Amino acid sequence: MALFSMKLDNLKALFVNELRDLYDAENQITKALPKLIDKSQNPQLKAGLKEHLEVTHGQIRRLDRIFQMLNEKATGETCKGMKGLIAEGDEMVSHSGDASVIDAGIISAAQRVEHYEMAGYGTVRTYAELLGHREMANLLQQTLDEEKQADETLSQIAKTINVEAKAA
Ligand SMILES: [Fe+2]
Repeated sequence: MALFSMKLDNLKALFVNELRDLYDAENQITKALPKLIDKSQNPQLKAGLKEHLEVTHGQIRRLDRIFQMLNEKATGETCKGMKGLIAEGDEMVSHSGDASVIDAGIISAAQRVEHYEMAGYGTVRTYAELLGHREMANLLQQTLDEEKQADETLSQIAKTINVEAKAA
């Protein structure tokens, strides 16, 4: 939701608006991931989340480059969707219980975040292509590929953890 009123009278304006939303979402993720890393017990899950934190820093740098190319500021939007997803993840790790079950819950929360981001990046990548911003489209595609990869990795890890959770 915009902190200031923004006129959405062309696709470029919507593109910038959605990029700012993603920029805020990524920054929220960098603040939320350390807690999930800390609370996760499975070493593979911990390592996967740590790696994604590093990847996320790179994604923020990519967005910074895009804002520079557009000569637009990166801030001004709050991603309420990501706030909600992170709040659900926080709630998940606030419970006491079996480590595998909680790890399975962390994966569930993290995959929701990845899918939300994949939807956002697919959209802005397509807008960039339509607007003729080929380099920006490439940068956004790289991030989209990373989010897909993170989702795949989580699915792989879940194969073990969900079975452990079932045995709890
Ligand atoms: Fe991301």
